[in-house]
Amino acid sequence: MARLRLAILISGRGSNMRALIGGCREGLIDAEVALVLSNKAEAAGLRHAAGAGIATKVIPHGDFPDRVSFDGAIDRALTTAGADFVCLAGFMRLLTPGFIAKWRDRMINIHPSLLPAFPGLDTHRRVLEAGAKITGCTVHFVRFETDTGPIIAQAAVPVLPGDDETSLADRVLAAEHRLYPMALSLVAEGRVRIEGERAVIEGLSADGGEALLINPGG
Ligand code: GRF
Repeated sequence: MARLRLAILISGRGSNMRALIGGCREGLIDAEVALVLSNKAEAAGLRHAAGAGIATKVIPHGDFPDRVSFDGAIDRALTTAGADFVCLAGFMRLLTPGFIAKWRDRMINIHPSLLPAFPGLDTHRRVLEAGAKITGCTVHFVRFETDTGPIIAQAAVPVLPGDDETSLADRVLAAEHRLYPMALSLVAEGRVRIEGERAVIEGLSADGGEALLINPGG
């Protein structure tokens, strides 16, 4: 399998982006980051990427009359950069069906809950309101419905008494930074096959020795 050339799409802080760049640099992920793209010029992650010597591009969504033309501009930027795989990392725009179809099975996302529970925004608030005792994060391929698609890996995170949205988000984010590079490394190694709408990981030992679930406190 050819080495992946990644485009990472962000809208803000970019801490997951940093974890992916770090994973590539440290050799955990057999891939190269070809481009970091943001719809917001003020996204803090852009500075980090540029400082790491990675090409960056800003495509402000407000410059386009509709989502289709905005997504067309993103698609052209990805092609120009020679990217063949897309990682969404806190990219806060809904993508259009045409774009999602074009990048089907070549685009993944991280979401801060144990999908299919709690898709969408305000995840941690809703987890707390529901009184869930375990939450976590999920890396999945992107499909048309928001926060759906074949699940590659998940990490479980306990909800502790006294948690508020901030403390819970911080604990889940720490798990995200471990999970996303690990999930992407499996894809980059060609170990993730999509069967129906499930992602099957090749070469996992039956006893879960190489678990794709990071357990609470683990
Ligand atoms: C993360 O919690 C991610 O799961 C969600 O948006 C947040 C992005 O944070 N999709 P960062 O920009 O990676 O720091």
